[in-house]
Amino acid sequence: MKNIYVLGLCYSHDASACLLKNGIPIVAIQKERLSRKKHDGLITDIDLKDCINYCLETENIDISQIDLVVENSPTIMYCKERDNILGFKKERLLDQLPDNKIIQVSHHLAHAYCAYGLSKFDDCAVMIIDGQGNYKEDLTEKLNDVLVYPDNSESSYIERESFYYFSNGKYKVLRKNLSTVHKSFVRFSGLGHLYEIVSSYVFRSRFDAGKLMGLAPYGHEDTAFNMLEIKNNSEIVYYNDWVKNFIKPNRSDNSLIENFQEYADLAMKTQNELERASLAMAKWLKTVSQCDNLAYSGGVALNCSANTKIIVDSGFNHVFITPPASDCGISIGCAFYGYLNILNQSKKQIDYLDYLGKNYSDSDIVKALTDNNDKVNFHKSINIFKETAQLISGNKIIGWFQGGSEFGPRALGNRSILADPRNFEMKDKINLLIKKRESFRPFAPSVLEEKAGDFFSVAISPFMLLTMSVKNDQRFKIPAVVHVDGTSRIQTVNEQQNSRYYKLIKEFYNITDVPMVLNTSFNSNEPIVETPEDAINCLLESGLDAICLGDYIVKKNS
Ligand SMILES: [Fe+2]
Repeated sequence: MKNIYVLGLCYSHDASACLLKNGIPIVAIQKERLSRKKHDGLITDIDLKDCINYCLETENIDISQIDLVVENSPTIMYCKERDNILGFKKERLLDQLPDNKIIQVSHHLAHAYCAYGLSKFDDCAVMIIDGQGNYKEDLTEKLNDVLVYPDNSESSYIERESFYYFSNGKYKVLRKNLSTVHKSFVRFSGLGHLYEIVSSYVFRSRFDAGKLMGLAPYGHEDTAFNMLEIKNNSEIVYYNDWVKNFIKPNRSDNSLIENFQEYADLAMKTQNELERASLAMAKWLKTVSQCDNLAYSGGVALNCSANTKIIVDSGFNHVFITPPASDCGISIGCAFYGYLNILNQSKKQIDYLDYLGKNYSDSDIVKALTDNNDKVNFHKSINIFKETAQLISGNKIIGWFQGGSEFGPRALGNRSILADPRNFEMKDKINLLIKKRESFRPFAPSVLEEKAGDFFSVAISPFMLLTMSVKNDQRFKIPAVVHVDGTSRIQTVNEQQNSRYYKLIKEFYNITDVPMVLNTSFNSNEPIVETPEDAINCLLESGLDAICLGDYIVKKNS
């Protein structure tokens, strides 16, 4: 039978491409991983040639074999009328396809199809919370009989939070929260937007929401003001008065040090408000949908502490939080939308693992190593797991490069930097010498799934999307991966999920009696490494002691 290929494309920041084969994502890549520029993508870049070719070459097919392309951009009208909106025609790889093979879908619906498509659910409620989606005029979903907030919203309003019910590949919109666009630290109009704008105030970048989450536990909650109020029917009203008390935005390299406590207090307040509001919305969705299952996505679904509260308190029996929850996952959602909703195919059971990058062969690795043999030395290990575990337990910091890369923002053991969680100094050492980032930022553990319950309050978290409390009597054993509030953002690992990573952690456990390693993404203030060459460059430019490329152990020449 002929294969059905659907290509999903996400333009804008965190641009990406995903190839779906017979309803299963087989390869996907973010533009930043190839261009080496963080969050790469622009509204005007509607080509994504490198990402598309990466997908086509991995599957060894031609663009003409694609049955359908589904794309999303911040302004869909630009996508559709690309020949005239900016006044010039931009040539692109997709020009080789007839126009009827290229369609568009709006942003939150693409997030929703990503969440639903990657989940194991046949039917579920879907919640999307992010910074912003598409303008109302660009929505490809019909809003008849849908709750829309505010009800007087016009075409210049933009998606902030959306709620759906999915069944048999089709969707129904239950509710949409829209707002006008505000970019300053003065007015707030959505949950993700609030978090992004506070992140800009504290770190000078709206992309630093993850940092804000890490900073929050250092804060003390100020109960004197509220950032928002949750009204009847979970309508969220944002207050703006409190910003008058915050007049020290991060404008210099010393700002964070000088204002650390004020920033931390603000981070904690914002985190608490986000948790309160996202939980209220999840509870509303549970009541309205009467469904047991929740699939959750959008950038806010990367907030681990809020996720844990939703899992525990929302009332849903089963919750799937999407590993590529940020905008990178839009390309996957586009592809699922095409396969399930346009081509009317049935949903496949997927055991999603997030390792959607292509595999680099032994010869790819050896070529990269020999090209750099004036700078590095290497040998092929006869037992890479044991040898690497010995290095880590001997306080070496290792880059672990195996198989295909993780598609989402979290390193899950194929592009990871690993260290000994027992050594408290590892946190400062990795922050300073390798990641080149602020000293307050925490690190996460990857723990053998069957041993997780010995150390943590909840036991299963394969995608590092939950925050768990570390048991009091165990904290002293793993100081490098316990945050200031006694929690960890853990990844549980079993053999089916990632056998090479599992074997490595098991060897470390055999040596140390501690069933986990410290895991952070394999990068040094740049996107996560994709190729063997990227990994070698990271070794050369950082304080890494060694890297493991497949079975090869590589060190810098002295
Ligand atoms: Fe988004």
